Amino acid sequence: MTVGPPLPADLQTPCLVVDRDVLEANLAGMASHARGLGVSLRPHAKTHKCLEIADRQLALGAVGLTVATVGEAEVFADAGCADLFIAYPLWAAGSRGRRLRALAERVSLRVGAESREGVELLASTLAGTATAVVIEIDSGHHRTGVTPEFAGEVAAAAQGGGLRVAGVFTFPGHGYGPGERERAATDEARALGAAASSLRDAGLEARVRSGGSTPTAALLDPHTLTELRPGVYAFSDAQQIELGAAGWDSVALTAAATVVSRRGRNLVLDAGSKVLGADRLPWATGYGRLLDHPEARVTALSEHHATVSFPTDGPLPDLGSVVRVVPNHVCTAVNLADELVVVADSALIDQWPVAARGRNA
Ligand SMILES: Cc1ncc(COP(=O)(O)O)c(C=O)c1O
Repeated sequence: MTVGPPLPADLQTPCLVVDRDVLEANLAGMASHARGLGVSLRPHAKTHKCLEIADRQLALGAVGLTVATVGEAEVFADAGCADLFIAYPLWAAGSRGRRLRALAERVSLRVGAESREGVELLASTLAGTATAVVIEIDSGHHRTGVTPEFAGEVAAAAQGGGLRVAGVFTFPGHGYGPGERERAATDEARALGAAASSLRDAGLEARVRSGGSTPTAALLDPHTLTELRPGVYAFSDAQQIELGAAGWDSVALTAAATVVSRRGRNLVLDAGSKVLGADRLPWATGYGRLLDHPEARVTALSEHHATVSFPTDGPLPDLGSVVRVVPNHVCTAVNLADELVVVADSALIDQWPVAARGRNA
């Protein structure tokens, strides 16, 4: 199986390559999905960390961007993005608090919160700014977020501290399991609905009910959600394929890697964990897949080596040939790269800096 046009010749491997046409189709597809459901799209920019892609998402109708850190927010604000949601229960102390306030004074800002203590800190940091707080709800992923019933209490504390409350958000990350997408999407809607009721009981309105992940985006409940925050959809990755949330033709980013060694039916590539990232959820069939050889699995990784096993008979890629590796989790791969090589129709057309690379604080 070969997906899309071959890579341009003479790439300096390893490098991350973006197929511009597949990227464009992914971005346009999600924009149209959200528009069709009447739900705002606020893509998570931690996936690409790239100004060029953020611009395109906004041009396609995104209402703003989601980010995870103050550092990411600063990069996109510097580039002119005027509407940012830090979807994270920020601990706004010390210099982080000062940076957050400076951001709040120059862009329309929303910040996540999930505890009374966190809200008190946000209130003292952001007093007098127009920043809105969005209360994080645990819809079943059990990472961060309060139970829906407790949302009103945290929201009331925020309002009492002088902060504006925009609504509630959740990340249905438990959809990252085989056969779990439908349940996670149902949990997401139920939790956001219950949290909105909790705010109502506290005399507050949850105008924003923000959810979404890439695996659950197609299944979202537009009667409950007002906003969707997928990130991975821009590039897709091996996790999405193995979950059945995306097809091979949606893979817009691969790591181009050279075959440097062959032993029997195993190859070794020059892209290791420092290029692909090392994420491997318990159900993943390996550390990544090959775009042109779906039967192969990346079975071992070291820093500069990936071992690829081919289970079946048949020709193997030659020594010295370049193959396209689909990382398990594209966000962690991108965070390791200085730039993305952009190709279209087998020609190198651009190089995009990973502008928010490493801005994890
Ligand atoms: C809070 C939050 N929102 C949105 C997303 C985007 O979801 P996905 O990575 O499935 O595209 C994530 C991903 O980790 C997240 O943590």
